[in-house]
Amino acid sequence: MTRRILVTSALPYANGAIHLGHLVEYIQTDIWVRFQRMQGHTVHYVGADDTHGTPIMLRADSEGITPQQLIDRVWQEHDRDFRSFSVGFDNFHTTNSPENEALCAEIYGKLKAAGLIATRSVEQFYDPVKQMFLPDRYIKGECPKCGAKDQYGDSCEVCGATYSPIELKNPYSTVSGAKPERRQSEHYFFKLSDPRCEAFLRTFTQTSGALQSEAANKMKEWLGAEGEGKLSDWDISRDAPYFGFAIPGTDGKKFFYVWLDAPVGYFGSFLNYVKKQQDAGNTIDADAFLKPGGDTELVHFIGKDILYFHALFWPAMLQHAGYRTPTKIYAHGFLTVNGEKMSKSRGTFITAESYIQQGLNPEWLRYYYAAKLNSTMEDIDLNLEDFVARVNSDLVGKYINIVSRAAGFLTKNFKGLLAPEVISGSKTNSPLNFKALAIDEEVSKAYENREFGRVIRAVMRVADEINQYWDAKKPWELAKNPDASLALHEICTDCVNAFYKLTIYLAPIIPKTAESVANLLGVTPPLTWSDLGTRPEKLPDQRALKVISQYQHLMTRVDPKQIEALVTANRESLKPAAPAAKPAAAKAPENTVENAAATASTEPAHISIDDFSKIDLRIARIANAEHVEGADKLLKLTLDVGPLGTKQVFAGIKSAYDPATLVGRLTVMVANLAPRKMKFGMSEGMVLAASGDEPGLFILSPDSGAQPGMKVK
Ligand code: 2FM
Ligand code: ZN
Repeated sequence: MTRRILVTSALPYANGAIHLGHLVEYIQTDIWVRFQRMQGHTVHYVGADDTHGTPIMLRADSEGITPQQLIDRVWQEHDRDFRSFSVGFDNFHTTNSPENEALCAEIYGKLKAAGLIATRSVEQFYDPVKQMFLPDRYIKGECPKCGAKDQYGDSCEVCGATYSPIELKNPYSTVSGAKPERRQSEHYFFKLSDPRCEAFLRTFTQTSGALQSEAANKMKEWLGAEGEGKLSDWDISRDAPYFGFAIPGTDGKKFFYVWLDAPVGYFGSFLNYVKKQQDAGNTIDADAFLKPGGDTELVHFIGKDILYFHALFWPAMLQHAGYRTPTKIYAHGFLTVNGEKMSKSRGTFITAESYIQQGLNPEWLRYYYAAKLNSTMEDIDLNLEDFVARVNSDLVGKYINIVSRAAGFLTKNFKGLLAPEVISGSKTNSPLNFKALAIDEEVSKAYENREFGRVIRAVMRVADEINQYWDAKKPWELAKNPDASLALHEICTDCVNAFYKLTIYLAPIIPKTAESVANLLGVTPPLTWSDLGTRPEKLPDQRALKVISQYQHLMTRVDPKQIEALVTANRESLKPAAPAAKPAAAKAPENTVENAAATASTEPAHISIDDFSKIDLRIARIANAEHVEGADKLLKLTLDVGPLGTKQVFAGIKSAYDPATLVGRLTVMVANLAPRKMKFGMSEGMVLAASGDEPGLFILSPDSGAQPGMKVK
């Protein structure tokens, strides 16, 4: 039976770059989708950028552009990155779309009509300068337990205490620095605690088969025992100003919280795709995928951190708004690099763009991830040494090696022609082909169950056997003996044919390489599972192997130097903060040159001379410079600003300067920047420095004659 499956990967936020952590999921999904298609099933794979919410609004604001401009730019970057890694969305859309807005309004209307929307007043922090309610992550203050400064609103990094933001002492808004006020506002809630929701969620999470068993157990904990009332209602509204969709009937004052419209964005993207297909003359029955009762499947791939949204809120919304619920929710673990969390300072927070820029082959990463992936929620580790070893010894050294050895003999001795009696042969004259065919079921089952590591193990086992057979038969010696020509021809043909079968198995994982192999062997791509043939093979004539073209390199080995260069390129201390990669607005602005660099590298909006003259730039003599214990990037500078006295500034220039070489130098500082309390003390200004795309930071020096305290205009 041909299955019809709508597949999604989680929607990436539109304010950051795609990195290797994201790619675990996109590659995992893409492999599964390609496998299903090779099996002859119909799959629609859709995604979109997740574009709404406060961080995106504030980030656009800080860059002096509109949210729409920001999300348009990031969409281009994301689209480029997915293409580079062969993540083949049928449609990569945006949640800020008319389709999505209409769907959100409709779903909300249905929930309201069903009596599942409630309103109540909520007290929240309000930034009187920015005139907006502040999500908790934008509040910092002193820990109520240990008094540590600059702690976030939910927990203390120093003593580990957890609390609510209203408990913080001396709270401040990280957006404006202002002291936040507590204000009441009316919020809209989806009544998850309603008995109908609870009953549905018990069935959905425990008996529908949609969740992995680990996930189902987690949900059981979250749902609590029957009658325990553990599920609370979900706050789905945010106050203006907010970048999102206005809630119908609220006069533009209330907006849907981003997590309401994000999953709806899966359907928005699908409807947009259906429309585009319609315009191209292809009809897809959208209702068959979105409405209950049909035989289609809805499969979501997500990270384990967003299970709550996908396994509770989303299905409950769908169920009570008359939509179908997910068939499967497949959650995966996080990516670690060299056994640790990805880290900007270690250079292991690696962007997709930099991987490509360093000239690494995306198929290497797809292969490595596949080798590590299974159906559980366990984290997977990208060990960079192991990456080099596995790609070089297994993918290239075992798999590619088969064809690179056999092709030469076939071209040189047999004009590239394969021995037909072997291609359609028996177990006696094509033993390798039979070995390759024998793992079909094992491989297919492993793909279906997302056990991609098993696929790789099965394929490499056969690759080992083929290589051992080759070594045992010593074709290089047969080639010297004219009487052994038939044996040589048969062995080489069998090797190539078996290699072809392994290529079919690996095609979902390394699609570009598989395409090159198909071309080399005279078969029109894409390869399908039926190209495996039968025993003995009865393939349609145009898909049967007959001849091999002149062998061209299919894949090179990884040079460990490329990995070193990749890590160096991603080490944050060496580069200016990349505007698209850093949720800068989510953190307190720091008076360091790095923030100056981030601002300087964005598209400048014009300012008036009056604006410019507000900045008090002064010549300063660096009277002292020292390391700051516990700070990776900062140096503590004492600046002599002549008549303005001395000022203490923390500057993010540690990567570029030895403090001893700075003492006595003249430089330029912003003298009227509001003093900022930082983790390490007060910072009373900012030192200016230049940076570009290449590593390096360069503080400014005035011409000789300039004196401390002089104005720079
Ligand atoms: O966690 C995230 O990165 C979210 N942007 C995922 C959204 S998935 C879906 F719900 F849209
Ligand atoms: Zn504390």
